[in-house]
Amino acid sequence: MTANSKAAIAERLAEARERTLALVEPLDDEQLNTVYSLILSPLAWDLGHIANFEELWLVQTVGAREPMHGDLGRFYDAIENPRVTRGELPILRDTELRAYMADVRERALDVLDSVDLAADAEDPLLREGFVYEMLLAHELQHNETMLQLLQMVDGYESELVEDALAVGPVAPGPETVAIPAGEYEIGARERGFAYDNERDRHPIELGAFEIDRTPVTNAAYAEFIEDTGVEAPMYWERDGSAGWVNAARGRRAPIDPVHPVIHVSWEGADAFARWAGKRLPSEQEWEAARPRLEGVGHGWEWTASAFLPYPGFRAFPYPEYSEPFFGPEHMVLRGSSWATHPDVVRPSFRNWDLPQRRQIFSGLRCARDA
Ligand SMILES: [Fe+2]
Repeated sequence: MTANSKAAIAERLAEARERTLALVEPLDDEQLNTVYSLILSPLAWDLGHIANFEELWLVQTVGAREPMHGDLGRFYDAIENPRVTRGELPILRDTELRAYMADVRERALDVLDSVDLAADAEDPLLREGFVYEMLLAHELQHNETMLQLLQMVDGYESELVEDALAVGPVAPGPETVAIPAGEYEIGARERGFAYDNERDRHPIELGAFEIDRTPVTNAAYAEFIEDTGVEAPMYWERDGSAGWVNAARGRRAPIDPVHPVIHVSWEGADAFARWAGKRLPSEQEWEAARPRLEGVGHGWEWTASAFLPYPGFRAFPYPEYSEPFFGPEHMVLRGSSWATHPDVVRPSFRNWDLPQRRQIFSGLRCARDA
């Protein structure tokens, strides 16, 4: 890998950090340390964790340097400290936190100068810059988690949010697309960055099915609620008459009927699909159909699949990213949301959460057997 690509990595790291800091820029230290929800971390934890993950991988692991703050890292370990406990941890705050983030970055760039990122580098972490891609993805994915929490902050405003939430018109076309029976390749290709849970790429036999070309809209979901009395999406509140408003960020904004619905639980998504006489697609069906789907990118789309390892799965570079979450209790979401950075989006990406969760930017589209 050339000096130029090292410069490109440094630039991308700087851009990601700029985005992270821009998201919290309107907030004060007290807001950064407030527990808004027991299923989400205080933002100061996310910030410290982003920097600590960078120190762990880019400074300690790759650079073989000692930790800067003794065993501070244990408070930022995501597995050791479930979200419900994070408000109680003696984590860094305010100027100490900012200084730690900057110090780690300085050291990480120093290490970057001296590493070999060639395609045949001995260390698989460094080969083609894998560990740097992982770091970038980690910070950008935490930006999305932070945006989940920022929906709970009354009065929070950000240009980034306004721009990203705007939904363009969907091209006219048929309601569903037909996908023929056959063998499809699922998972990430050999080259390029992907998480361990997206590998190995493998063939799968699918029966013929139809899938909605566009995701379920707010209007359709509202009709489903009126008809069945099921739980409304998170942040929906009655507007005093028959309609709904969106109360995210403490506002009461009208709900656009043609926008894809988000903040729906898997339970709600599955019930909607059955109410509509359809079903959720499996994650393999979703991936096979991906090139023909519209409207992808406003909300993650729940699938009928539990989060399970693919054949040949090998944990890399650490077991805690995927392995503890494999099993029938977590359901897979595919696609991306308005809060997902484009660098994180790829057809093989697998997101997951518990079936009752609605704080994520989650919607759905329906499918049925042909
Ligand atoms: Fe993390």
